[in-house]
Amino acid sequence: MHTLTSPGLYFLGVVAVWLLAGAVLRHRSPVWHWYIVGYPLTWFRITRTWRPLCIERGLSVSRRASQAVIGDLIVRGQEVRPVVPRLWIGRPTRTGLVVRVRLMPGQTPEEYAQSAEALMHAWRVYAVRITSPERGLIHIEALLSDPLAGVVVRNPDARRAGTTAPAGPPVMVLVVGVTERAKSWLMNFRLVPHWLIVGATRSGKSTLIHAIVTRFAPQGVAIVGIDLKGGLELSVYRPRLSGLATTRQEAVEILEALVELKDERTHACNMAGVRQAWELPEPPPPVVLVIDEVAELFLVTSNRDREEVALRDKTVALLVKLAQLGAALDIHVIAGGQRFGSDLGSGATLLRSQLSGRVCMHVSDGETAVMTLGDIWPEAVVTAQMIRADEQGTAVTGDGEGSWVRARAMFTGVDEAADAARIYSRITPVLPGIKRPYFVDLPPDSEGGEG
Ligand SMILES: Nc1ncnc2c1ncn2[C@@H]1O[C@H](COP(=O)(O)OP(=O)(O)OP(=O)(O)O)[C@@H](O)[C@H]1O
Ligand SMILES: [Mg+2]
Repeated sequence: MHTLTSPGLYFLGVVAVWLLAGAVLRHRSPVWHWYIVGYPLTWFRITRTWRPLCIERGLSVSRRASQAVIGDLIVRGQEVRPVVPRLWIGRPTRTGLVVRVRLMPGQTPEEYAQSAEALMHAWRVYAVRITSPERGLIHIEALLSDPLAGVVVRNPDARRAGTTAPAGPPVMVLVVGVTERAKSWLMNFRLVPHWLIVGATRSGKSTLIHAIVTRFAPQGVAIVGIDLKGGLELSVYRPRLSGLATTRQEAVEILEALVELKDERTHACNMAGVRQAWELPEPPPPVVLVIDEVAELFLVTSNRDREEVALRDKTVALLVKLAQLGAALDIHVIAGGQRFGSDLGSGATLLRSQLSGRVCMHVSDGETAVMTLGDIWPEAVVTAQMIRADEQGTAVTGDGEGSWVRARAMFTGVDEAADAARIYSRITPVLPGIKRPYFVDLPPDSEGGEG
């Protein structure tokens, strides 16, 4: 009789109920199925594979020195019982689970990021992300599926632009998409004044810039463009642009005028005893300089052409100066490009250090991802390199809390951007020393649009 009440039988009963619940929930409620069945199984898999994985991937450390003297010989090697980092119990979320790991002395988050693919296969999850929210600690996030798959976010203001979006004062915090953690992807231009947007051709850079410009269009923001692809990309915003350069010479003129504007604003701030332009009694309009294909600014057809080289150096110097000192004066830079490598020269590295906002979309060469993210979040590079060409608009970017996140940009079509530019052309600020670009379809009662 005692066999019926034995703990073994109770255990079998619990397992049977658990399996039954799993079978019922699998299709009815995938989320509950994950919490009740998937999560314990995955956590079991994680704890079982953690030690061998750490040893295999070089994530364990030896307590003893890696070399010893035996007789006349120096013997190098790994300790037989290396120590592996301790795992905190994984916290389940709707989309997977998050494991906290305290780094061991000498380790960096990047080493774990290099093993993300191995973890993904061992734990049988869709993807693994490594982030470091605080020094000495990493979060390993195991995802069951791609939270951004099939997500196409529309820009609500772009849709309204043609009808009701009222013109209003500048709001320098834009919602430009959604993140993998189901939060808004924010671009806070007051906190992060300048942005570098990098991605291979057709990765979604211009679409993101459309979203930004469409959001800025109803506000009293001065938008200035530099597009050395002959104006192909930025011409759509022509009616709403305070300036547009399509040649290097024009770019130098615009940059010189903006540097002068910066100096004037610095003077005004000094006189008023404030430290930021938006604290002035009459705040001047924020200026957003949008550069499409920033690499074009750095390249010359021949290094022997002294005139061209001198002009290039001048452009780069002015741009770096503007980025270095413009933030407090409400002058912002958004630089987009297919490639951003150290081969562009020291000016590129200097400019990059000023463009603290980073967006890395699908890239076709590894170095561009390293150059775009490696100096801030080296552990994000692997995830950026895994963004596929067909994941247009998907990017790795800052999460606004010091770490990085994968996100999807809003889809804003070129027509929506062009509509917004036309509708709000009349509130385009005029900047000293910069001509508004010529455009034809100006409403008859507008005074802008001189050629
Ligand atoms: N966020 C997005 N959501 C959905 N589709 C997108 C998104 N971003 C881009 N796309 C699609 O990808 C196409 C190419 O995007 P886009 O023109 O922005 O690329 P790009 O990076 O600017 O390319 P290029 O370097 O050639 O100028 C768009 O026409 C659109 O169909
Ligand atoms: Mg483009």
